[in-house]
Amino acid sequence: MREETRRLAVLDRERSLLTHIGALLGWDQETYLPSGGVEERAEQLALIEGLAHDKAVVPEIGYLLSSLEAASDLEERERAYLKVARREYDRETKLPASLVTEKAKRTSLSQAAWVEARRNDDFRSFAPHLRKMIDLNLEMADVLDPEVPPYDVLLDLYELGSDEASIAAVFGRMKTDLIAILDKILGRPQVDDSFLQRRVPAEAQALMSEDIMDILGFDRTRGRLDTTVHPFTTTLGARDVRITTRYIEDCFPSSVFSTIHETGHALYEMGIELEPEFAGTRLAEPASMAVHESQSRFWENIVGRSLPFWKKNYKRLTALSRGALDGVGVEAFVKAVNKVQPSLIRTEADEVTYGLHIIARFELESDLVSGRLQVADLPEAWKAKMKALLGVDVPDDARGCLQDIHWSMGSIGYFPSYALGNLYAAQFWVTMKDEIPGLEAGIEAGDLVTILSWLRKKIHSRGAALTPAEIILEATGFSLNPGHYTNYLEEKYSAIYGF
Ligand code: CO
Repeated sequence: MREETRRLAVLDRERSLLTHIGALLGWDQETYLPSGGVEERAEQLALIEGLAHDKAVVPEIGYLLSSLEAASDLEERERAYLKVARREYDRETKLPASLVTEKAKRTSLSQAAWVEARRNDDFRSFAPHLRKMIDLNLEMADVLDPEVPPYDVLLDLYELGSDEASIAAVFGRMKTDLIAILDKILGRPQVDDSFLQRRVPAEAQALMSEDIMDILGFDRTRGRLDTTVHPFTTTLGARDVRITTRYIEDCFPSSVFSTIHETGHALYEMGIELEPEFAGTRLAEPASMAVHESQSRFWENIVGRSLPFWKKNYKRLTALSRGALDGVGVEAFVKAVNKVQPSLIRTEADEVTYGLHIIARFELESDLVSGRLQVADLPEAWKAKMKALLGVDVPDDARGCLQDIHWSMGSIGYFPSYALGNLYAAQFWVTMKDEIPGLEAGIEAGDLVTILSWLRKKIHSRGAALTPAEIILEATGFSLNPGHYTNYLEEKYSAIYGF
C-alpha cells in the first residue's frame, strides 16, 4: 500500500472519529437527554458536524487524491478506497461550512419541535421547521449539482446511482403488484391476531428483545439496546453499535420485530470489518441506505416472521410472555404476526402494505421538493394519498404526516430506501435459497450462522467498495428485479390466506 493511501486513511479516520462523537450526542438526545438540554445540544452537534466537515475538506486530502490517481501500482482495495474517497471529498468540498453548520443546528431544533408536535398533534408548530428543512435541502442540492433536478440529487445521496425516474419505474410496477396481492388477501377470511394485544409489561418485552439479539448473533460487547420514540440504529464506533426499540404494552410484537429489524442493521455495521488499514475510513462504511435496509428487513421479515424461525424459538418467547401467549400455537402466532391490514402507521405496517406507505411518501416528497405542494397543505395531501393508496382515513396528523422522524431530520429522499431494501432482500433470499440447499430446515434447526456468513461475505465485508447496483449484481448474478419481491409475497401470503 502506498504511503499516500495510509496518510489519506489517517485523515479520514479523524473525520470519522468526529462523526462518531456527533452520533453519540445524537443518540443521547434521543434516549436520555433532559428537555432542558436541547438548545445547547443543538450547538454541540453543530460544532461537531462543522469540525467533521473541516476535517473532510482539508486541502491535503485533495493533493493525496490527485497523487494517488496518477499512480499505476495501486492494490485493488486501494483503488476502491480512492474512488469512494474522491466522491465524498468532491461532495464535501462543494458544501460551504456555513450550510453544514446551519443544517446541523436547525435539524436538532427541528427534531425537538417534531417530538412536541407529534405528541400534541400540532402540525402547525412543526410546519416552519419542515419548511426550513426543505429549503436547506434545496440549497444543498443546488450546491452539489445545479444541473440536475434537486430531488434527483437528494435521492442519489441515499441511494447512489438512483434518480426519481428510475425509482418511479420500479415503484410503478411494485404499486400494481402490491395492490393486486392486497385485493386477493382482502377477499379471503381475515387472520385473528387479537391475542397479540394481550398485555406484556415493558420489563418482559425488554427480556424478549435481549433474547432475540442473542439468537440473531448481536455481539453485546460491541453494542447495546435502549428505548426511544422511534427505533433506530446508530454507529458510535467500529466496535460500538447502538440499537433502540419501544415497548407498547398492549402490542408486544412491535418491540420484538423492531428489535429484530434494528439488530439486522447492527449486524451489517458489525460485519464491515475490513483490513486494519481501512478501519474508520469511508471504505468501512455501508454501501447505501437501501442496502442497509435490505439487511434489517431480511432479518425482520424473511427470517423473523417465518414459521421455521418460530418453530425453533417460540418456546423461549412464550416463556417470557408472562402468560400472554398461553393457548396460542406457533402456527397461529406466525399467521398473526403476518396479518395484512391497511393501516395508518408505516413502522407497524405489514409486508404487503408497507411499500404503499413508502410510495405515498415518495410522491409527496417529490411534490414538496418541486414546490407543487406547499408545506401548509401537507396534512390534507397526506390524507388524500393514504385514502387513494391504502383506503384508510387518517384521523389526525400525529398518525398522519407527523408520524415519522425523517423529514424533521432533514432526511428528504431517504424513504424510497426502505422499499428498495425489501426488493433487494427478496433477491438475496432467492439467491441464497438456490445456493444453500436446506436453508429453511437449517433455520428451523437454529442455524442462522449460515445466513449471516452469506450476508457477511457477499455484502457486509464489501463495505462501500461497491455501489448498490454492483452489490446486487455480484451477490445474485443479476441486476435488480422487483418481480422477486412479488413472487416472495405471493408464495408466503397464498399459504397464509389460502388464495
Ligand atoms: Co431500518
